[in-house]
Amino acid sequence: MDLIEESKRLAAYTAVDQHVKPEHKIIGVGSGSTVPYVVDRIFQQGKEVNKGRVFIPTGFQSRQLIVSAGLSLGDVDEYPAIDITIDGADEVDHQLNCVKGGGACHLREKVLAEAAHTFVLVADYRKNVQYLGTNFLSGVPIEVVPFAYAKVLNNLHHSLGSPKATLRMAVKKAGPVVTDNGNFVIDAPFEREHMIDPQIIMSKIKMLTGVVEVGLFCGMAKAAYFGNEDGTVTIRW
Ligand code: 5RP
Repeated sequence: MDLIEESKRLAAYTAVDQHVKPEHKIIGVGSGSTVPYVVDRIFQQGKEVNKGRVFIPTGFQSRQLIVSAGLSLGDVDEYPAIDITIDGADEVDHQLNCVKGGGACHLREKVLAEAAHTFVLVADYRKNVQYLGTNFLSGVPIEVVPFAYAKVLNNLHHSLGSPKATLRMAVKKAGPVVTDNGNFVIDAPFEREHMIDPQIIMSKIKMLTGVVEVGLFCGMAKAAYFGNEDGTVTIRW
């Protein structure tokens, strides 16, 4: 296993060991390449504890993970109060604000984060930053209804200070990426000044008609676990 994979595994295993307790019955499962290690570690807690649990996915990928591990699947409309949700992140700042949506799942991810009593982030060391916008190149993911995407892009370019915002295209540019909700995604890079207190720009973007959700999660996470190259784990809370 390479160093990045190993650091994802370390972060996920440590977070599960510290946060997922036998009394947690409703568990939200995020998306991305770190989350399979979360499901793996929860599976290792054993049949006895897992048979009384329901797992709520944030998208197609996590649904598949839950089903292939033989765990019980649920939906947030049946279980609107989740005990704990664990998810990956594209970047996490020193105040536990994060950017999510690299996999275009951030609407459902935010619903499950907000529905959860405890929301925990897991990531490799590259995601651990002082301010958002340090490492990720493509910007803040914004889910928009298709009808409004050009108008929202225009708003971002001319009013909200993101002149390089672009519509996310599928591989080989066959067409726009379409989310599990049938919407498009815009990636909007912002200057550092907007990322010092990301809540402000998040609220402005959310106010644009046609925006469904913004991949900025401000003040939601209780803790973040980062696996490091040297085999240690950095924990922020
Ligand atoms: C998907 C996400 C992912 O959680 C995020 O992109 C992190 O993914 P990874 O664990 O592969 O680094 O927000 O929408």
